[in-house]
Amino acid sequence: MTIRRQRVEWVVAADRSHLHELAANVILDVLRNTERPVFGFATGGTPLGLYEQLVRRSLENPRLLTRWQDVTGFNLDEYVGLSPEHPQSYHHYMWRYVYRYLPVRPDRMFIPKGIGNLEDNCRSYDESLMKYGWPDVQILGIGKNGHIGFNEPARRLAMNTHVTRLSESTRLANARFFPSARDVPEQAITMGMAGILRAKQIVLLAFGEAKRDALIRAFSGWLGTDVPASLLQLHPHVTVFTDQDIFGDLS
Ligand code: F6R
Repeated sequence: MTIRRQRVEWVVAADRSHLHELAANVILDVLRNTERPVFGFATGGTPLGLYEQLVRRSLENPRLLTRWQDVTGFNLDEYVGLSPEHPQSYHHYMWRYVYRYLPVRPDRMFIPKGIGNLEDNCRSYDESLMKYGWPDVQILGIGKNGHIGFNEPARRLAMNTHVTRLSESTRLANARFFPSARDVPEQAITMGMAGILRAKQIVLLAFGEAKRDALIRAFSGWLGTDVPASLLQLHPHVTVFTDQDIFGDLS
């Protein structure tokens, strides 16, 4: 394993389950040592192993398990047009893989609502973030095109929670979760860049050759709205957990 300290800390290892374990250590440390922890959750394929670790290790330790009663959770995004009960909604994902196993307070687990009045939903999401505080730890994946949350490459990036049009690359990548590519919603609600960058600590997981180019572009030393993840270089506490050793490409 290589750990290199720059402004961004890199944890590079071949074994993904080991990376999930190390990322889970970060979350569980905050869970143990913070009175009212706020976690920012991502969905998608990449963090599933991390959630499996969080659930398993919490269930094995009764004191840790009860700590979840004090947790507030904020998810990054939700598809527009999918109800919380829809099997491909991120509401459904969180309850299926995480929340149903833990003694969380459902009224403290915030996930943007993709149906109803979307403007109101965005506004009330930001109000909840302001009320409970931005995450102590924000978990992130990264899109092949460098998106974080569903902040897609664009000429301008939004600070706050907003409705966004998903890029073709994102819809194609996420087609694997739907019956067909046509069924992937065209829009989503996502936390904005400010919401993400206000987290105290960021844990970014990126696995596989498909994410290599996005990582190189995000951490190249250049900032650009065409690679939203590149703004993470401004954050004081980012740890990237990856199986891609990109340092040869960066130097
Ligand atoms: C999901 C999210 C997205 C994903 C990204 C990578 O809540 O915010 O940014 O993290 O699209 O998805 P996977 O992990 O499926 O490759």
